[in-house]
Amino acid sequence: MTTKNHGARHVAIIMDGNGRWAKKRLLPRVAGHKAGVEAVRNIVRAAGDMGIEAMTLYAFSSENWKRPEDEVNDLMGLMKRFILSDLDEFAANDVKLKVIGNWRALASDVVALIENALERTSGNKRTTLAVALNYGAQDELVRAAQAAAATGEISEAAIAAHLDTADMPPLDLLIRTSGEVRLSNFLLWQSAYAELYFTDILWPDFKPADLQAALDHFARRDRRYGGL
Ligand code: IPE
Ligand code: IPE
Ligand code: MG
Repeated sequence: MTTKNHGARHVAIIMDGNGRWAKKRLLPRVAGHKAGVEAVRNIVRAAGDMGIEAMTLYAFSSENWKRPEDEVNDLMGLMKRFILSDLDEFAANDVKLKVIGNWRALASDVVALIENALERTSGNKRTTLAVALNYGAQDELVRAAQAAAATGEISEAAIAAHLDTADMPPLDLLIRTSGEVRLSNFLLWQSAYAELYFTDILWPDFKPADLQAALDHFARRDRRYGGL
């Protein structure tokens, strides 16, 4: 399934619908989150083969703290297990891990795990996998504006240079699963000229073939950036 001519360098996904996937099966929400991790694994494996340089996945928003404590704990536990179990595979597949958002504010064991994973994959080059953890775009923009102000220059270039995604290619395609048509505070600055793709598929059901369908769709879009 290798298609390298779709032209999308950076693809981001709002991975939504885990809870509804579980509900449909009369399972607890955590079962949906577990199935969601499996979908992440398959998509990350496929992304490199599809010629995607960078992928940003929305895993936990700065607003997701509003959920019941049990669910937050389940999500953090799954996150830790995912990093631990897949680190070797990232290393083997030349995947560089990146984390965006206010992740340093998370529990110290999570922070330590992330720091180790970032360090171990820092030399990898084929695909960058950015996981958005405790991420909110408005929070990111405030941090970027503060950092820019500290240099004495508040301009588009200066703010862009201080975003969490500053070292990534421009965002080409933003996908949201589960049928919701909103951005939920994700990559607001970066999506200024990204193509948006919404699908009703629930995240645990999202397969590499569905990513390919989104890329095919992207390849047919006419990006005008305000010109003709
Ligand atoms: C997305 O699935 C995962 C996270 C937000 C962490 P949801 O948990 O939001 O699933 P729904 O939207 O309730 O179906
Ligand atoms: C967005 O999904 C956050 C993630 C996918 C991590 P939500 O399920 O939290 O978004 P809303 O609440 O429906 O807007
Ligand atoms: Mg949701």
